[in-house]
Amino acid sequence: MQHIKPRYMILYMTKRCNMRCPHCIFRLYNKDCFSDEDLDVSFGKQIISYYKHYGIKELYLTAEGEPLLYEHLPEILSFSKNKNFERIHLNTNGRLLQKYINSILEYVDSIYISVDGYNRETYKNHRESDAFARVIKNINKLVKARKKHKNQLFISIACVIHQQNLNYIEKMIQLANNLNVNRIEFYNFHPIQTSLPIPTCTPVYQSIETTQYFETIKSKQYQMEIVLPAPVSDKKHFYCENLFNWIVIGAGGNYSPCCQIPPHKKFGNFHDDPEYFFKGEIGHFKTKFTRAESTSDLHGSCKDCNGLSPENDIFFPDMRIWTKRYPVSNYCYSFTPSIT
Ligand SMILES: C[S@@+](CC[C@H](N)C(=O)[O-])C[C@H]1O[C@@H](n2cnc3c(N)ncnc32)[C@H](O)[C@@H]1O
Ligand code: SF4
Repeated sequence: MQHIKPRYMILYMTKRCNMRCPHCIFRLYNKDCFSDEDLDVSFGKQIISYYKHYGIKELYLTAEGEPLLYEHLPEILSFSKNKNFERIHLNTNGRLLQKYINSILEYVDSIYISVDGYNRETYKNHRESDAFARVIKNINKLVKARKKHKNQLFISIACVIHQQNLNYIEKMIQLANNLNVNRIEFYNFHPIQTSLPIPTCTPVYQSIETTQYFETIKSKQYQMEIVLPAPVSDKKHFYCENLFNWIVIGAGGNYSPCCQIPPHKKFGNFHDDPEYFFKGEIGHFKTKFTRAESTSDLHGSCKDCNGLSPENDIFFPDMRIWTKRYPVSNYCYSFTPSIT
């Protein structure tokens, strides 16, 4: 298999989390996935320096849990900023945002804040946490601070959508509009076939009803970017940006082939070989993927992954157009540059 040089890296900084969302991908693999494992700060700097030198252009700092629980976050952010990545991204559930507003404005280019509900009740149903008011207050503070400091931070609200909450979309757009953020992005729920099914959540599959519903949303103009979820469809093209354009590495240095699969020692560790992200188990995984001829040949987590679906519908407010982009990641949407 030919090796492609990845552009993006995800570095998970902790395995601790202050929420227990029923839809959480890590919890779908293992209900007891969270632990107090943190990235050793000098090891983190070693990984970042290594891959910057290797050619990584964009760094995604996040967690197999909640990154704002990582006490060395400002140090890792400032270190990464000095490395001159093209962009530094951060995903968070926003609960502890207030504590880090200054560091975020100083070092982060794009932040994705998960708000899976448009009011206290819907948020609680979705995240099993009564933090809606607090998260919204924190976002308001961040938006105000950004304005005060004339800062360019790109703020995106993230919301997981499944068949049962599909009708949230318009209310969520309204909420994001009131918050004055740059974008709202909807992720199609990824069920992970290896896990027990969650009866209240099923992914959105392509259907006439969904297409019609999206057409209604797309018939309007908005003041911010909107990324609609990509419904899972019949897979005809087995190409996945995630597998070939990313390095995904956990707090202990283990690799993963993709952001939808937790890092594990079976995929190799940075300590043993910093090129394990395209060798060993990951090499086999990628080769097997490129040889797949039907959905049944795919690894369990790829079968219902919207990464293999058609491009996402996205609205750009400056151009006032709805267009399509192929996303390069599944749980925070970066996009390939071409517009079809
Ligand atoms: C894995 S979390 C990590 C960062 C942080 N704890 C948070 O919740 O934003 C990153 C994003 O993935 C989304 N996510 C988690 N599980 C998912 C699933 N099964 N399908 C689709 N998106 C999922 C989360 O809702 C969140 O927006
Ligand atoms: S806050 Fe993020 S990592 Fe924690 S349980 Fe929810 S989705 Fe998972």
